Amino acid sequence: MSATAEETPSAAPSTTPGNPILEVENLRMYFPVKSSGLVRRTVGHVQAVDGVSFQVEKGTSLGLVGESGCGKSTTGRMVTRLYQPTGGAIRFEGKDIAQTKPGDLKPIRREIQMIFQDPYTSLNPRHTVGAIVGAPLAIHKVVPRDKILPRVQELLEVVGLNPEHYNRYPHEFSGGQRQRIGIARSLTLQPKLLVADEPVSALDVSIQAQVVNLLQDVQKEFGISFLFIAHDLAIVRHFCPEVAVMYLGKIVEIADRDTLYERPHHPYTQALLSAVPDVKQAAIGGRRERIRLQGDVPSPINPPSGCRFRTRCQFAQEICAKVEPPLLQIGPRHKVACHFAGELGAHPATPVTMDVCGVDAQGSPVPGATPVEQLNKPGFDDRWYDLKTQQFTGR
Ligand SMILES: Nc1ncnc2c1ncn2[C@@H]1O[C@H](COP(=O)(O)OP(=O)(O)O)[C@@H](O)[C@H]1O
Ligand code: SF4
Ligand SMILES: [Mg+2]
Repeated sequence: MSATAEETPSAAPSTTPGNPILEVENLRMYFPVKSSGLVRRTVGHVQAVDGVSFQVEKGTSLGLVGESGCGKSTTGRMVTRLYQPTGGAIRFEGKDIAQTKPGDLKPIRREIQMIFQDPYTSLNPRHTVGAIVGAPLAIHKVVPRDKILPRVQELLEVVGLNPEHYNRYPHEFSGGQRQRIGIARSLTLQPKLLVADEPVSALDVSIQAQVVNLLQDVQKEFGISFLFIAHDLAIVRHFCPEVAVMYLGKIVEIADRDTLYERPHHPYTQALLSAVPDVKQAAIGGRRERIRLQGDVPSPINPPSGCRFRTRCQFAQEICAKVEPPLLQIGPRHKVACHFAGELGAHPATPVTMDVCGVDAQGSPVPGATPVEQLNKPGFDDRWYDLKTQQFTGR
């Protein structure tokens, strides 16, 4: 297939300006690995997050999903600037905060808050609930001292706790109530963006839904945008209109909810989804067959060449080891990073990415071919790559 003008780098899609509160572009976090002994030299890097791009629209939620160790928390901690990224951009309301110096982060800390996974370790056991929830007000001096307590009580009420319990200590509360305290604390400064890092994973299944409902109410009431991190696709389904799936430091698929849950195109998303009980299919007597992933997740210190999922992928071919599949937009709100992207049972026999990557079916460079560049942009474009025609098309 010859490369048309439409497929050249200059015709590469430019991102449509939507209304993002957060835009993350090519974000990377490499943790140094040190040798043991007296002189501790850097002997390698954990590529915890490696070139992640996404955006969160104002007032909505993006779900970030993947197995343990794929880099979700590290991404969340960079967005809240608990970590300084190794590279890439974090544009919050248009301003890049990726390399803002620690001393200048105070205003950002008010706007972006985090809810942590473990309500047992994230609350200081020696402080009362009033002190925990009120601390940000005191630090940021947003209300006079005598107004802190009424504000704390108001927040406790918002999260469904008794406002008279401000003098109690965290150990006097159950896990679900503690997470409500964590949520109250995250709301104290009226943030615009909340990064919720597996906010219900540590809770009993019976109370997970209550806490998710509370977060949904909070979002409606205060118009807060969410980056909602979870390790399984079931939790984010009702909360997030858009979901990104991560594997070993990279996003492998990102799409609107309907597309991701009903027509996933990446073998990893398909495997994750096969583990989610499908109410609709069960209702008609059908069952989605469970796809068991082979082997373990490889080390992010020395990830596989080409596609990082290839060591566990049943569709892997030669090209997968040679060429990294780009996160290609294949529909109005759908991107996937797979050379053989397709619906389950309909993965193509030849790679769909040959033109885009400028390679042949085995992944060897085609002389004179021009790979499409700049595919790793946050958000979606008006034009995308049609898998059937293998041409760029659009609205
Ligand atoms: N501070 C750190 N130093 C070194 N490696 C880290 C650090 N934090 C996380 N990692 C590694 O980075 C990878 C991603 O971790 P993490 O972001 O916590 O994943 P997740 O939240 O998806 O479980 C893991 O391999 C983890 O061991
Ligand atoms: S690029 Fe290859 S190895 Fe990676 S998910 Fe697709 S088929 Fe599997
Ligand atoms: Mg985590």
